[in-house]
Amino acid sequence: MRKIDVAIVGASGLVGEKIIQILEEENLIENMNIALYVSNKSAGKEILIENKMHRLVFLDEGALERKFDIVFFSAGDEISSLWVPRFAEKGAFVIDNSNAFRHLEGVPLVIPEINIDKVSKNSKIIANPNCSTIELAIVINALSKIYEIKKIIVSTYQSVSGAGKGALSDLKNNTKFEIPQGICGNVIPRIGSLSENGFCTEENKIMFELNKILNKNYSICASTARVPIPYCHTESVYVKLTENVNLEDIMKELYKENIIFNEDIALSSELADKNEVAVCRLRKFSENEIAFFVVADNLRRGASYNAVLIAKHIINKFLN
Ligand SMILES: NC(=O)c1ccc[n+]([C@@H]2O[C@H](COP(=O)([O-])OP(=O)(O)OC[C@H]3O[C@@H](n4cnc5c(N)ncnc54)[C@H](OP(=O)(O)O)[C@@H]3O)[C@@H](O)[C@H]2O)c1
Repeated sequence: MRKIDVAIVGASGLVGEKIIQILEEENLIENMNIALYVSNKSAGKEILIENKMHRLVFLDEGALERKFDIVFFSAGDEISSLWVPRFAEKGAFVIDNSNAFRHLEGVPLVIPEINIDKVSKNSKIIANPNCSTIELAIVINALSKIYEIKKIIVSTYQSVSGAGKGALSDLKNNTKFEIPQGICGNVIPRIGSLSENGFCTEENKIMFELNKILNKNYSICASTARVPIPYCHTESVYVKLTENVNLEDIMKELYKENIIFNEDIALSSELADKNEVAVCRLRKFSENEIAFFVVADNLRRGASYNAVLIAKHIINKFLN
């Protein structure tokens, strides 16, 4: 079997580093020729992958001279907007972690366990959903298999790593470089900028993406906040259904979908560096209304692991 040519743009970032780690864990990297692209800040540094030093390379036109089978992008919206179409035009499957292409009709927005069928040989740009959307969608998808959903209200408590390496450094060093309001000692009840509808970027992402992934038109209201913890997003979720609910049936469905159900509380520190999604404190508000918390690692389940699952599918289906 030939080695697969893979590039990771943003290889020195939180998501990029995790993609490399998961490719190693999944024993995929040994069958890959890997190229690692970064900005001029990290270019020239070397990192150890599978006992071999790999140089981080400045992303420029030279990268387009190489032919890649798969390119992971985790370098922000601007870099993706500029470069993703160019790698796709050269024939690579591009798995993009940014928000740049998620809205486009022809671009599949994929959580493999839910809608991997949207990825075809011709879908060259594949969007990885937003981190807070992924864990919510996995649970709502499970619920939708046994009940019809009428309305979803979600409030998030999102970790600082969700805003990248610079933000995590602000948390560790009590600085305000990346998060100007100061994340130490604060809950910041807005993530991204405000849109005309009064919702912020992160809230609009959740409300749009959930329906695109599940192919539904649910009534969804999201409120998002950044909290001063390093890893994992916790979400408080209210769901209104069309009929009386049975909590036992929901628990059984969560189990079937490999979602951890915790009778007590699921802590972010327990879910950190894990691929699973956990649900806890499932309760009934009325006959057809429930509330619960969802927790997952934003860097893994909310980004890198999801991207690697998509890559695995592409390798098995289109590259072998
Ligand atoms: N963090 C999360 O939980 C999460 C979850 C889902 C999606 N995402 C998305 O994933 C992307 C990356 O997030 P992150 O948290 O990993 O950010 P990050 O830690 O700040 O890393 C950003 C990466 O982009 C690279 N980069 C910056 N400018 C570049 C350029 N001009 N050319 C090439 N590379 C460049 C950086 O390289 P240098 O080291 O050289 O600066 C670094 O490797 C973002 O689009 C984000 O929205 C993040």
